[in-house]
Amino acid sequence: MSLVVTTPEEAWIPAARQLAVRLGLPFLAWAETADCLVLALRPERLELVARSRGRGEPVYVEFSTAIATARRQEGLKQDLARAVGLKGGWRPSVLDATPGLGRDGFVLAALGCRVTFVERSPVIHALLADGLKRAHGHGVPESERLALIQDEATNHLNNHSESQRPDVIYLDPMHPERTKAALVKKEMRLLRQVVGEDGDADGLVRAALRVARLRVVVKRPRLAVPLDARVADAVIEGRSVRYDLYFTAELPKGAPRAGDEGVLPPSSTFVTTPLSAASTSFPLPR
Ligand SMILES: C[S@@+](CC[C@H](N)C(=O)[O-])C[C@H]1O[C@@H](n2cnc3c(N)ncnc32)[C@H](O)[C@@H]1O
Repeated sequence: MSLVVTTPEEAWIPAARQLAVRLGLPFLAWAETADCLVLALRPERLELVARSRGRGEPVYVEFSTAIATARRQEGLKQDLARAVGLKGGWRPSVLDATPGLGRDGFVLAALGCRVTFVERSPVIHALLADGLKRAHGHGVPESERLALIQDEATNHLNNHSESQRPDVIYLDPMHPERTKAALVKKEMRLLRQVVGEDGDADGLVRAALRVARLRVVVKRPRLAVPLDARVADAVIEGRSVRYDLYFTAELPKGAPRAGDEGVLPPSSTFVTTPLSAASTSFPLPR
């Protein structure tokens, strides 16, 4: 199913056409999109919707105070916070090189980190830009700790200046497709239709390891091979995902290490995954 830009609002047609041109996508009138995967420009937000699938649940970026509060209440014991190394008052700067819908990055911002999103897909970048703009508009304080860049992250990291090196680089590339389709969340299926497989993630982890001042954190399905077949320095394992930790410098005192409670030593039984092509970039809409 190919992606088109549309809007159900007559008055928004010129803006939707402009967005289509910026993203290099076709524009179709709303009435003609009944069987399409659409990027729908609505007055309230920008949404990705598969209109052919039942009611077509929209996918969009949401950076709200309610979400931030809920994730803050989960505290520093949540696996993501421990993986990134938050402890006491320590809040590293984070470069999220695979932001997607920005959920993980927003959790880190809610917990006090400054997070820079570097997203290469122009469509996903447009959704993030829209979510960020709405959050700023609603005065969501956490949005002040978020920055957004459209770029291919390996390229971005290879051109990184010494003074701008982030403490932590966070990677969550598109996971390999699971055999039981029902297990893959609808939202992930939609995202996959837009960005495809992130088959070049091995190169990304190598670039990240050259740039991160303190550590690289890779989120993987619990049983997946590690990126670049690289044995992690420590692993935090959850029910369905795990975080592979690669330390690039001496850790601040108290940060989780292999051997701490809930932090596993690395496994050495992994095999190599193949590399493949990257995608293109386009300028930011709106
Ligand atoms: C699985 S999603 C990430 C989900 C995200 N962690 C969240 O919480 O919403 C992966 C995203 O990373 C982006 N991505 C993958 N490789 C990238 C790269 N080399 N540079 C920039 N973005 C990349 C993809 O376009 C996709 O939007």
